[in-house]
Amino acid sequence: MTFTIRHAEPADAPALHAILTSPHVVLGTMRLRHMRLKNTEDRLAPDPNLVQLVAASDGEVSGFAELVLNTNVPRASHSAELNMVVTSERSQGKGVARALIGVLIRLCDGYYRIRRISLIVWVDNTRAIELYRALGFKEEGVMRDFVRTEEGYCDALQMARLSNH
Ligand SMILES: CC(C)(COP(=O)(O)OP(=O)(O)OC[C@H]1O[C@@H](n2cnc3c(N)ncnc32)[C@H](O)[C@@H]1OP(=O)(O)O)[C@@H](O)C(=O)NCCC(=O)NCCS
Repeated sequence: MTFTIRHAEPADAPALHAILTSPHVVLGTMRLRHMRLKNTEDRLAPDPNLVQLVAASDGEVSGFAELVLNTNVPRASHSAELNMVVTSERSQGKGVARALIGVLIRLCDGYYRIRRISLIVWVDNTRAIELYRALGFKEEGVMRDFVRTEEGYCDALQMARLSNH
């Protein structure tokens, strides 16, 4: 599968909304199945603290990743959060998420000089956890009953990747 990676634009909102409200994404994130398109449009509003990348294949959005910078927090500006990583259902397992996170890591290492990239992932999300491990993220701890699910509650792992900056 060939795809290009570029910054997200407001015009991506409908395609991204379809991905963000799909069942596999609802399972792995804080998203709800039924959310307004406006919610995704607002998410894509320009913000200097957000880096939002999409992977596009044949003009279609196949994945999205969002990094939150702490530019205005002097004692935390060396850190950033990987806040969202999603791949469309039919593009899964083809390296889309790996490529998106790879670009964010290179931006953090090369330009933003970020020492610490953190993320939170549900403990049952094996697919995502394996990907993060492969990219150098390490587990830091478990947050119990972190998210409400249809079955009850699920624990979450805090993970982080440190660079040499
Ligand atoms: C998690 C998610 C982002 C992965 O996206 P993806 O594009 O399918 O991932 P990739 O194809 O880049 O996978 C790369 C790595 O993930 C891991 N992986 C992928 N599929 C896997 C599976 N079925 N089981 C275990 N590990 C798997 C492997 O380490 C894989 O590396 P490899 O291809 O060298 O074996 C995607 O499944 C998704 O959108 N899930 C729903 C939303 C979500 O849970 N996001 C994460 C929130 S923390």
